[in-house]
Amino acid sequence: MLDISKASWARLDPPRLTTERPLLSGRGLCKRYNSVTAVDEVDLDVYPGEIVGIVGESGSGKSTLLRLLNLEEPADAGRVHLNEPGYEGVNLLSLDRFCKREVRIKYIGVVYQYPHLGLRMRNTSSGNVAERLIMVGKRDYGLLRLTARDSLASSEFPLDRMDDIPLHLSGGMQQRVQLAKAIALRPSVLLLDEPTTGLDVSVQALVLDTVKRLQRELRLATVVVSHDLGVIRTLAGRVMVMRNGQVVEQGLADQVLEDPQSPYTQLLVHAKL
Ligand SMILES: Nc1ncnc2c1ncn2[C@@H]1O[C@H](COP(=O)(O)OP(=O)(O)O)[C@@H](O)[C@H]1O
Ligand SMILES: [Mg+2]
Repeated sequence: MLDISKASWARLDPPRLTTERPLLSGRGLCKRYNSVTAVDEVDLDVYPGEIVGIVGESGSGKSTLLRLLNLEEPADAGRVHLNEPGYEGVNLLSLDRFCKREVRIKYIGVVYQYPHLGLRMRNTSSGNVAERLIMVGKRDYGLLRLTARDSLASSEFPLDRMDDIPLHLSGGMQQRVQLAKAIALRPSVLLLDEPTTGLDVSVQALVLDTVKRLQRELRLATVVVSHDLGVIRTLAGRVMVMRNGQVVEQGLADQVLEDPQSPYTQLLVHAKL
């Protein structure tokens, strides 16, 4: 007799990735500052549930690329697409600033290298997280506190410090507040710029563990920028190597980092061994 149990149907399902489209895409992204081309014709795709690492030495254009993806800065050329309802086929870079802000609030969480860029350092940590909810019109104080507490707990922030101001917290805790704020509205995209630079190695490892867990649980499409190959190794499934605004090599992280093909990547990898 034909077995139509759930398990047998499940075996017939096509692999999930083959049907999935990138959640976030950039095409032909360019950004110049006077004579410097910070980002030069960069393409990238990020799928739900994956972490793409962007590595390169200081000044290679990593942070600028992230700001373009976060719609924070106008690009000189290129497109950014987000596979979310209502935005299919829309170049997000061509939206007006109010619509860009709406996309950012609703779909994109960011963790900056310097906490003061992402947080109000003299507001409470819980207040910083609640700010995301206030931005979408939530006013119920109980709900704001509950959501802030939940997000901080998910980011493994010690809740007895939730009413402390970031200025009085350690660097690792400040990054956890940024993470909590980034995920408060359950975005689909997470952008991290050097999230652990400047932290002690042991603290770094704990923060990276939290990022990995959150990313997996929330199935985020994540881009992490770092000059530190260790961070990229720990987090990223795929990697793009940037130099002078261009992508010089890309592929699966283990392959690129174990067997780099471009002389520049070879230099980076060997310098860190
Ligand atoms: N706001 C800016 N004004 C002028 N030049 C900038 C600005 N932001 C970045 N740059 C320049 O663009 C290049 C890439 O910078 P950046 O994206 O910060 O690199 P990375 O994050 O890889 O260190 C550098 O030469 C930098 O000096
Ligand atoms: Mg940078």
